[in-house]
Amino acid sequence: MRSLARRLVAVFVLAVVATLAAIVVNGSVAAFADRGKGHGEDRGQSLVKQGKAIFRDDTFGDQAFWGDALQLHKAIEGANLGGVGAGVSPKTALAVGLKVDSKRLPEDVVKALQAGKVDLDDPATTLALLKLNAVVGVKGFFDDSGQHLSSVGITCALCHSTVDNSLATGIGKRLDGWPNRDLNVGAIISLAPNLTPFTSLLGVDEATVKKVLAGWGPGRFDAELSLDGKGFRPDGATAATLIPPAYGLAGVNLHTFTGWGSIPYWNAFVANLEMHGIGNFTDPRLDDATKFPVAARAGLGHVTHSEDLITSKLPALHAYQLSLRAPKPDPSSFDAAAAERGKAVFNGPGKCASCHMPPVFTDSGWNLHTPAEICVDSFQADRSPTGMYRTTPLGGVSLHGQGGYYHDGRFKTLGDVVSHYNSCLSLGLSTGQQSDLVEYLKSL
Ligand code: HEC
Ligand code: HEC
Repeated sequence: MRSLARRLVAVFVLAVVATLAAIVVNGSVAAFADRGKGHGEDRGQSLVKQGKAIFRDDTFGDQAFWGDALQLHKAIEGANLGGVGAGVSPKTALAVGLKVDSKRLPEDVVKALQAGKVDLDDPATTLALLKLNAVVGVKGFFDDSGQHLSSVGITCALCHSTVDNSLATGIGKRLDGWPNRDLNVGAIISLAPNLTPFTSLLGVDEATVKKVLAGWGPGRFDAELSLDGKGFRPDGATAATLIPPAYGLAGVNLHTFTGWGSIPYWNAFVANLEMHGIGNFTDPRLDDATKFPVAARAGLGHVTHSEDLITSKLPALHAYQLSLRAPKPDPSSFDAAAAERGKAVFNGPGKCASCHMPPVFTDSGWNLHTPAEICVDSFQADRSPTGMYRTTPLGGVSLHGQGGYYHDGRFKTLGDVVSHYNSCLSLGLSTGQQSDLVEYLKSL
């Protein structure tokens, strides 16, 4: 009996030792736990891979809106090819900020582009690019002949990816997560032969819709317009916000400029209410008819479809966004010694780290603040259920600066942001400390 008990103890000790060894070999307890469930790490990676494909190419069925309803595909084709109007040449497409993924172009097309032998004035070339699925975030659907566009849809990449311009301006390798600050969404929507879906939702005439869209300009979109119908700020400027990056978001609690919710919340919101994909969505906060008159009237807080092309994709889409790290700036783009001094200001007398907590650079925990805390007006905060602004994560902040800083781009440079805080928080920073702080921000 005693020897059996001793043997059992020995087996148990061996099992514990083997377990610990496995943990050490795998480098972490988490890796071990994943193995325990059977190829968890592989599963995680394949989820990211699926998410990438969804982020880049999934329209969630939104061609029913952008093509079938707005008829944008007809405007792209132009009258000569069976559509309406002048058509959208590659030159026009690039001018409104659309991007071309060079990796999706066959070698002969790349060579022809390099040699300047591609006709960039012909809408037929745009159709060929769409057929190659090479226009970032825009998906063409062709009829049986393969010659005509039957519809067109959009994907997340339209606004949250750009290219590195390695082949030509607007043509190059994809940069997922980088906001497309060249993209003129308002101008693109304005091309639509049928704006009735907007006029009837908002209850205004076409001229008004066009005026609002013309106010957006490059790099902006208004995710709240279809909820509250507000096209302009009280000072007359557009109510649209900048398109934010979709990188550097791992570890960030609430998302969007005003903290609407988590990544899966916002992804469901956008896919259903902004892209007009086909899915299900719930948010009773949108029933508030005072704050969200348009959404409450249209029942946007309770969207149901018997077919749901969105919900099943949220896990992979989430995993992919969490995998997108903030890009690191080129070391030659800032003064390293000044940045080091600036880091001490950021974490010390600048008080920046009290909200932008390194290394995630948003508050760990509840990451919202009142407009008064950062000395700005409450217009955009009041368009959200929170009434607050979310502390922006700062990784790669200098790399998406085109269009300015803060939700509406009110500060043109990082220097302007720092001098705003200097007076708002009565920091009393010297000009040297302020410029060091800017170099530090440029290094993030
Ligand atoms: C038409 C342009 C457009 C499209 C398409 C679009 N977004 Fe956005 N996205 C925006 C804008 C503008 C905001 C800022 C909204 C706000 O704060 O009110 C935003 C915010 C976000 C945020 C919050 C970022 C942060 O810093 O917290 C995430 C995440 C995001 N979008 C992911 C997606 C995903 C995933 C898709 C596809 C399902 C998508 N977006 C489609 C324009 C777009
Ligand atoms: C009270 C919390 C708080 C403090 C303190 C604070 N910030 Fe912010 N920060 C925010 C919030 C909230 C935003 C978003 C404002 C908006 O989008 O309108 C923001 C935005 C920014 C942005 C703009 C990012 C972008 O992509 O547009 C920069 C840069 C920035 N802060 C740097 C700093 C620096 C430098 C300091 C210290 C001098 C600092 N912040 C102190 C809360 C804070």
